[in-house]
Parts: sequence; structure tokens; C-alpha cells
Amino acid sequence: KERTFIAVKPDGVQRGLIGDIMKRFEQRGYKLVASKLCMPGKAHLEKHYSDLSSKPFFAGLVTYMNSGPIFAMVWEGKQVVKMGRVLLGATNPLESNPGTIRGDFCIDVGRNVCHGSDAVESAQKEINLWFKPEELLTYEANAKPWIYE
Ligand code: GTP
Ligand code: MG
Repeated sequence: KERTFIAVKPDGVQRGLIGDIMKRFEQRGYKLVASKLCMPGKAHLEKHYSDLSSKPFFAGLVTYMNSGPIFAMVWEGKQVVKMGRVLLGATNPLESNPGTIRGDFCIDVGRNVCHGSDAVESAQKEINLWFKPEELLTYEANAKPWIYE
């Protein structure tokens, strides 16, 4: 079963967008398997974005991510990594289509309200970084036969 790591960044939390962002995944039919509001600290965030450590915007990115609570989630379902990125929209909100989360809720790339894993392997890494195994719940979603053929 495919899983992805989705997070509402500090700007999204402060702007009251947690519910709107969760709703996009819920209404599409994906299943929530973990969630928490947290402030993991600078070292954790540097690890989360370690692939970008050589970028000129890295320090600003870590400061931004460390500026307030983050709402971390794990969603499960068919092709959820790829579809999660589609639901989020392009990295730069000025290039995100209306109807996507970023295309509906933000303007600046450095305040783009949400994060989503970019591949199945990075999703696994990020889920392990942000959640303990016991925080990931196993349960039967009632609507499953009404969502999947
Ligand atoms: P995430 O879901 O947050 O990982 O975004 P992404 O996968 O669409 O993009 P990427 O991993 O390349 O960049 C991570 C984050 O760094 C982005 O979401 C932006 O918040 C920020 N970022 C990326 N490029 C730029 C940039 O050119 N300038 C600034 N200021 N921030 C950037
Ligand atoms: Mg990324």
C-alpha cells in the first residue's frame, strides 16, 4: 500500500488552512494513517530538506519551516505520492494551477503552505523521519469498496 508524507507548513497552519488541505486528500478518497501538530526543530528540518543543503535558499527555507507549528500527515492509497503532488500543485505558486492547493491559497515560493514527498522512496524516508512506527495506524476504511473497483 502506497503512502506519502504531506505537511502543512507554518504559514499554512497560521493561516488556518489545515482543514482545507486535509479536505483535498479526504474528498479524493485517500486514507489518513497518521497526523500530528509539531515543531521538530532546526536539526530535524535540515535533515528533512538535506537534498537542498547546497541551494542558496536553504537557510531561509529552514528558518521558514522552523517559524511555527507544522501539521504532519501520512496519507495512503493508490498512487498517492504522485497524486499528492498533483493536489499540491507546482512548487512555485505563481505556476500552480487554480484548483490545486498552492494554486488556490498562496503566491510566493518561500511561503507555499504545504509539503509533499516527491517519490515513493523519499516518502518512505520522510515517514520514518517524522513518525514513530506506532503512530502509523492500521485500520479498515469503510468507504474503500466505494472508492476502489
Ligand atoms: P516541498 O514539497 O516543500 O519539498 O516542495 P517541492 O518538492 O515542490 O520543491 P523542492 O523540494 O525543490 O523545494 C522545497 C521547498 O523549498 C519548496 O517547497 C519551497 O518552499 C522552497 N524553495 C524551492 N525553490 C525555492 C526558491 O527558488 N526560492 C525560495 N525562496 N524557496 C524555494
Ligand atoms: Mg521537495
